[in-house]
Amino acid sequence: MTKHVSPDEHRKTFRAEILAGLTAPRKTCNSKWLYDDVGSHLFEAITELDAYYPTRTELAILKRNAAKYRRLPGARGTMVELGSGSSRKTDLLLNAFQDLSVYMPIDISANHLKASAERVRRAYPSLAVIPVAADFTQPFGKLPLLPELPVLVFFPGSTIGNFEKDAAIGLLRQIRDAMPEATMIVGVDRPKAESVLLEAYDDPAGITAAFNMNLLQRINRELEADFDLASFAHQAIWNAGESRIEMHLKSLKAQTVTVAGEHIAFADSETIHTENSHKYSEKALSEIAGESGWRVLDVDTDPDGLFSVNTLQAN
Ligand code: SAH
Ligand code: AVI
Repeated sequence: MTKHVSPDEHRKTFRAEILAGLTAPRKTCNSKWLYDDVGSHLFEAITELDAYYPTRTELAILKRNAAKYRRLPGARGTMVELGSGSSRKTDLLLNAFQDLSVYMPIDISANHLKASAERVRRAYPSLAVIPVAADFTQPFGKLPLLPELPVLVFFPGSTIGNFEKDAAIGLLRQIRDAMPEATMIVGVDRPKAESVLLEAYDDPAGITAAFNMNLLQRINRELEADFDLASFAHQAIWNAGESRIEMHLKSLKAQTVTVAGEHIAFADSETIHTENSHKYSEKALSEIAGESGWRVLDVDTDPDGLFSVNTLQAN
């Protein structure tokens, strides 16, 4: 995973995974494919929305507690960030961590990562910035870490919530095994009123709908497909049993779409399940941390308890 994925390899994996998901009995797509250049910019637009409370809430928690996080050993060593996106949240930590030596952002969205890393380099000239364009769900190779420097893993945004429970445990365990001495700061969204969640994932301005629909445009752009965008709609559902928001793309009629030469039949109202966004209570988070070899040292939240920022230590 430390090797940068070549664009060619990335395109091949995209084709294979999209076709496998569209030909499965229940059509699905891994949410990591939402993030091409356009998807990354649409996600940034989501973070500015009034309806999307997680970003501003997590930013406020990070700001309030940055001086405390500065006392973690890794704040004087290497900070590895998973799913770094624009690295805007990172600024709050970088401003507080004057003794940090290395910043290693890891993201699948290669161009966006490159631009964000360049911005961080310009803003913090004394920091060594080492971006890694990779899929962190793939087995970690040997990370290019300097053994003499302590490590802090930063995993914000509730991106861990985009994984099903077993996959989340597997990912946390993989992080622990790759960096057994590290501490980790992980941001997690919490369960709350269904109306608040539905508005956050189906906002009135339609930006989340555009983010989801971009997946079809991406498939059209990259896989010679002919999805008719007017025949699909964004759908957000609260699945209480699984404590998660699900995003789907719903076919508005019976239709057949061609993707990379394959004919994909859709029934009227059939959906492609494009994302899960699990919401973790303090107890549920502590359980998955425990099952993956981590222990929760500290939990910081906002006054309304909407979101939590958890400090974990490898067991
Ligand atoms: N950390 C930022 C961005 C969150 S959006 C924030 O909190 O606002 C999720 C980010 O994770 C995106 O930048 C996306 O490109 C990246 N991402 C999603 N799945 C990934 C994967 N499997 N491997 C690497 N990066 C991934
Ligand atoms: C990145 N991830 C945690 C976001 C979320 O809230 O699940 C992605 C997102 N999907 C729709 N809106 C935002």
